[in-house]
Amino acid sequence: MPPTKLIPSIVLTLTSCTVFCSPLDTTESTQREVSIEEHATSCEIVFRGNTFLRENDFLRRSREEQMMTYFRVVNTYKGADAIDDLIANNMGCINVTLPRLDNYKSNLKIPKEYIIFCNLENGEVNAVVIVEWTENNDLRVWSALGWSSWGEWLSCSVSCGGGIQQRSRRCRRKNCHGFNVEQRHCNIFSCENIINPLSKDRNGREGHKSFHPPMEKWERVPDRLSAWRLHPDSYIWLPAKEIFQQNGNQAFPKDFSVLLTVRIINCSLGTIFSVRSRSRQDTYLSLELTSQTTSLDSVESEKSGELKLIHASSLNGTDVVRIPANLDDGHWHQLALSIRNESVIEVYVDCVWLKTEILRFHSLHLPDDSDLIIGYLFTGDLEQLSILPDPKAAKLQCEDIRIPITDFQEIFNRFSSKN
Ligand SMILES: *[C@@H]1O[C@H](CO)[C@@H](O)[C@H](O)[C@H]1NC(C)=O
Ligand SMILES: *[C@@H]1O[C@H](CO)[C@@H](O)[C@H](O)[C@H]1NC(C)=O
Ligand SMILES: *[C@@H]1O[C@H](CO)[C@@H](O)[C@H](O)[C@H]1NC(C)=O
Ligand SMILES: *[C@@H]1O[C@H](CO)[C@@H](O)[C@H](O)[C@H]1NC(C)=O
Repeated sequence: MPPTKLIPSIVLTLTSCTVFCSPLDTTESTQREVSIEEHATSCEIVFRGNTFLRENDFLRRSREEQMMTYFRVVNTYKGADAIDDLIANNMGCINVTLPRLDNYKSNLKIPKEYIIFCNLENGEVNAVVIVEWTENNDLRVWSALGWSSWGEWLSCSVSCGGGIQQRSRRCRRKNCHGFNVEQRHCNIFSCENIINPLSKDRNGREGHKSFHPPMEKWERVPDRLSAWRLHPDSYIWLPAKEIFQQNGNQAFPKDFSVLLTVRIINCSLGTIFSVRSRSRQDTYLSLELTSQTTSLDSVESEKSGELKLIHASSLNGTDVVRIPANLDDGHWHQLALSIRNESVIEVYVDCVWLKTEILRFHSLHLPDDSDLIIGYLFTGDLEQLSILPDPKAAKLQCEDIRIPITDFQEIFNRFSSKN
């Protein structure tokens, strides 16, 4: 485990605390940084909170050189009962005495999320250490409290109209502080005019025609039966005028969103989807995984493919929008793109806005004779592919707010099956 990157001045504080450090060793070289794991284990209260106040809301506590401030609680790692009591009459906030001899006041950014490790002394909450909230620090705290890492987010309960999805983790000890399930809202857009080319398949000859090789040869994903496994020689080919028939409009809509739930396998390259003109082969809009052309931080990026949205038109050349997301890590990802006003592209990855880009060279032009091709030369699992004639749908693929749930049934089953 690498040493925790704490706010620099905190190290000072740690050497002077008696509770958490091994006997004081005054020589700097041997000074030991106390890890996030140790703090998580030894502190009574650990929570994720954000700063939201102004500079002058820091309070100096008289006599001692100590500062107080308050955090709005985002979630609780440890000490849930104490935290519930503390926030009950304090508008969801906790007043925290900052570690002694420290200039947190100038180090805490506003607004920003932190993990606050503290102890309760005479009704006061004394912070031992405060670290920035990051996915990695979050994992380390939970792991120290006995939890496995999170499993994949499971499928959304509905394909449109607002559903839920969950992910779970296991307690690796007899019992753990915290919850074992997280839930979030997904596919929160209206079902009106939604196109799901993947679900067209099961019935009707029409669907059969579009699958290459034929449907019967397609493989469901063993650990995710709602998804299809695409191989380099398998793809779906749908004429735009067929898929948009029901909307009375035979061409690709001008403003739209494309939503995908996808798992890239074996660092595959290839085309995830492409809208391509029949008569003009050089006119298309494609989402492609291409091999990295430049590798700045060589070691890590060399292996991974680069995700690009490419818009080519026979007259005006090619526009490339790079999507800086590491999707080929073998996990499921949710990816949503929207295009509006024929030029503004917005990208969301795993419920979080990633970038907005304007097509510079020319506006998006998709000829009426376009076909939609899914999964060309691509190896991966595809669970969701939805097209909506509404650019606002992209940010409604899922919500980044995670609702903690304790699924006692799950916990109970695990114990009964162990014994
Ligand atoms: C927390 O601090 C604020 C600001 O000084 C104060 O108004 C509030 O009463 C305090 N809450 C508690 C529970 O001490
Ligand atoms: C991924 O690569 C492994 C090792 O080369 C291979 O066994 C496996 O079949 C590949 N998976 C797919 C879906 O192609
Ligand atoms: C090419 O660019 C010109 C000038 O910007 C524009 O008028 C025209 O519509 C573009 N054509 C295509 C196919 O995008
Ligand atoms: C759409 O794009 C055009 C040309 O780039 C711009 O003038 C117009 O203001 C845009 N409209 C909206 C609603 O963003």
